[in-house]
This record gives sequence, C-alpha cells and structure tokens, in this order.
Amino acid sequence: PSYKYVLAEKRGEGGCVGLVTLNRPKALNALCGELMEDLKYALLELDADPNVAAIVLTGSEKAFAAGADIKEMQHKGFVDCYAGGFLQGWDALTRIRKPVIAAVNGYALGGGCEVAMMCDIILAGEKAKFGQPEISIGTIPGAGGTQRLTKAIGKSRAMQMCITGDPINAQQASEWGLVSSVHAPDQLVNEAIKLGERIGNHSKVIVSMAKASVNKSYETSLAEGLQFEKNLFYGTFATKDQTEGMTAFVEKRKPNFTDS
Ligand code: HXC
Repeated sequence: PSYKYVLAEKRGEGGCVGLVTLNRPKALNALCGELMEDLKYALLELDADPNVAAIVLTGSEKAFAAGADIKEMQHKGFVDCYAGGFLQGWDALTRIRKPVIAAVNGYALGGGCEVAMMCDIILAGEKAKFGQPEISIGTIPGAGGTQRLTKAIGKSRAMQMCITGDPINAQQASEWGLVSSVHAPDQLVNEAIKLGERIGNHSKVIVSMAKASVNKSYETSLAEGLQFEKNLFYGTFATKDQTEGMTAFVEKRKPNFTDS
C-alpha cells in the first residue's frame, strides 16, 4: 500500500533492507497523528516481509523530524490527552522485531529525537541536531525523552538538554554515545542501507534474538537480564542456523542460513 506521509520501499541486495522515509516536508516532518499511523503500518508491513532483514528509518536532509505536531497539540486539554489516548501507538516502533536503524539528517527535535531513540541504532549526518526543546513550549518530553536519553548519555547531559532545551550537534551526539557513527549528509542513507545489508548476512531469527536480548538490558535488573540472555542463547541451539553457522566455521566455508 502507499501512504500519505511516509514512503516505504526496499533497497539493498535482493531488497533485503526496508527503507521508510518520513515525508511531510512542509512541516519538517512534524509527527502528526496521521503520520504516526502511516509509520506504524509501513514498519509492520516491512517487519512481516520475509525478505527484509533490517529497516532504515529516515527523513529529509533538513529534518528527520521537528517534533510532535505543535499545531495539533496547541489546543488540547488534559482530558483530550488522557482520555483520548494521545501518543498511544507511538511505541509500536519499539515492538518491531527486526532491527530498525535511524538515519538522522538535520533536525531530530522533541518527538523526532524520541522516535530516533526508539530505533535500535542511530546513524547521524554531519549536520544533524538532536534536542528536547519541549521546555521552550511549556511542556516536557512525552515519548521517552527523559528516559531513553538519560540511559543513553547519562543524567547530567540529559538533564541539561531537557531543562535548557538546547540541542546538540552530531559530533557531540557521537562523543556522548547517542549515535554510533557520523557520515556526510548525502552518504548517510546509503551507509545505513549498507549496515542493514551486513545485518542481512546473518540469520534473521538469531538477529531478532540478539536484538531482544540487548533491549532487555534497558528494562530489567542485571541478574534477570543475564538469565534472559542465557535462555535465548540456549534457545539458539534449537535452530538449524546455529548448527549451520558452527558447521560452516569448522568446514571453513560461508554459512548458508535459512532463518530456521
Ligand atoms: C508543527 C512544525 C513543527 C512542529 C516545524 N513546523 N516544526 N509544525 N509542529 N513541531 C512547521 C513550521 O510551523 C513551518 O510551517 C514549517 O514547519 C517550517 O518551519 P520553520 O520554523 O519555518 O523552519 P526553520 O526556521 O528552518 O526552523 C526549523 C526549526 C523550527 C528550528 C526546527 O521549525 C522549530 O523550532 N520547530 C519546533 C521544534 C520543537 O519545538 N519541537 C518539539 C515539539 S514538542 P509554516 O506553515 O508555519 O510555514 C514535542 C513533544 C513530544 O515534540 C512529546 C511527545 C511525543
């Protein structure tokens, strides 16, 4: 299907990388309700596609996304938010089982920064700007900005960003560990697709287990996380891909994973 506010396509070798582009240029990809619905269904479609190994989420060179739609929020009251389930559905992104790579060029502000942080890996363009400017418009982050950002870069830096509203640039984001690498703006999406292709060399089942296990570390105690990891590790031994991977190593050949 085609969507109003996002483009969904397949790129990379054999179409193994899903590419979702936020496409609401007039509002710098402000994340209105309709856009978030489109994003959810585009991601679910690619998650269900057996040929797709990883998904890249990007915006334009000017803006990944300039935040939740301020015009949509302007006249809301508490009851509209609470009873209306405002932001319900935003976390659909965190339930995608395949790796999602955010390729962030330009502004990733407010909800835009939060959406990037819901992804599994963030790559940044040299001109990227990450920020939680909600404080400047009389509110606070509502989709993980005070939580995921703090886990990613630590309390002092996250606090400063959330209570000054000042953004950071790509260099800073890289030094602070918010992003894993920085690229020339016009190369960014290609680099993200190449990363997706490298993930695609591996077993999709095992990749989703690795993703689930890393993500578990954000949600639980060390002891429980280690137990979760051990159980999934044991679980890999119930797959054909574990046998194939280890046999291929011993036979000094490339593995032929069948995602089973
Ligand atoms: C609605 C937005 C928007 C937003 C930009 N636009 N950001 N519309 N919601 N978040 C619109 C502008 O109104 C304008 O439309 C058009 O996009 C271009 O924006 P300009 O401001 O003219 O561009 P520029 O001067 O280049 O400035 C870029 C900018 C600025 C620095 C990114 O747009 C900006 O500060 N935007 C708001 C950033 C922000 O506060 N984000 C957090 C939102 S709160 P018109 O029609 O006027 O030309 C949030 C809450 C999250 O995200 C909590 C839960 C998810």
